[in-house]
Amino acid sequence: MFAVPREKVVRIHASSGTTGKPTVVGYTQADIDTWAHLVARSIHASGGRPGDIIHVAYGYGLFTGGLGAHYGAEKLGCTVIPMSGGMTERQVQLIRDFRPDIIMVTPSYMLAIIDEMERQGMNPRDCSLRVGIHGAEPWTQGMRQEIEARAGMDAVDIYGLSEVLGPGVANETVETKDGPVIWEDHFYPEVIDPATGAPLPDGQFGELVFTTLTKEALPAIRYRTRDLTRLLPGTARSMRRFDRITGRSDDMLIIRGVNVFPSQIEELILKDPRLAPHYVLEVRRDDRLDALDVVVEPRPDLAGDADARRQAGERLAHDIKAFIGVTATIKVADVGKVERSIGKAKRVIDLRPKG
Ligand code: DLL
Repeated sequence: MFAVPREKVVRIHASSGTTGKPTVVGYTQADIDTWAHLVARSIHASGGRPGDIIHVAYGYGLFTGGLGAHYGAEKLGCTVIPMSGGMTERQVQLIRDFRPDIIMVTPSYMLAIIDEMERQGMNPRDCSLRVGIHGAEPWTQGMRQEIEARAGMDAVDIYGLSEVLGPGVANETVETKDGPVIWEDHFYPEVIDPATGAPLPDGQFGELVFTTLTKEALPAIRYRTRDLTRLLPGTARSMRRFDRITGRSDDMLIIRGVNVFPSQIEELILKDPRLAPHYVLEVRRDDRLDALDVVVEPRPDLAGDADARRQAGERLAHDIKAFIGVTATIKVADVGKVERSIGKAKRVIDLRPKG
């Protein structure tokens, strides 16, 4: 699908394959330069400045997160620690040793790093980090508050997708934290009705669509992201923003006819101080009817308190019924039972028979 001869493609990456097989994407040298420039701009909007030390814990390799962040941080004139994802103990060790100002990592893996800091007896608020630049997966305001309160830093949203560029298509400003600013000098955004394809006016919710304006190797016209959000006017920057992504059209669960996004359940979990933000949704089919199990961990200090765990589970079941309209079975699992991601978190396990 390249628009230039293969010899002009200096690098390939691949999407994470959310809809099945990953898409291979390519970049010319000019595309790599544009990308680095836009990630540098994104880091600057997040509060980063030349001279800062940046710890990159997005995965390096075919995933665009690691190398995308890396080139942008260098372009801004920062010192990069190219840690990649995984080896959580070592992540914490490097943060202690190199005292980075900024961390770039998925929000779910940030939580795992914060947990590991606490496990090592360190108060995460005492670490050197000033800003976290988090993206690559949907996350809620509740998750932001949790990260900011526990790590004592600003947590800012970075957005992007491989087919359009990689990280750095849009980024929040640290002053306002009111949704990612789309770098409209490089990408023309639209929001469409996902069912009909009709463009919607700014402010209405639908599927985000991008046309690239400057890309060479893989230009895209009206690429459908499947990400659901709405366009908003500029605030700290003149370019338009979009609202927090509520989910992808393809990770929406339909449980007995009710549309459910993992982010709605995350919001309710984070409201309860007895529950930790580690959760997974399991969908089963019992007697031809779909059933939803929410497996969630308690806060570690309540792990031994059976009453508190039971009450928190009952409360969550009640809230899910009241606010979302579905019946869910809550399993308050032991601490550490929900698998930790080292990159994008897997929030849904669909155990329903295929076909
Ligand atoms: O995830 C690029 C990226 C890397 C973005 C690092 C930010 C930081 P893909 O693997 O192609 O690319 O996945 C793209 O991830 O369509 C969204 O569904 C989701 N996504 C990315 N950023 C956000 C975000 C990278 N800030 C897909 N909020 C996109 C919600 C996000 N979802």
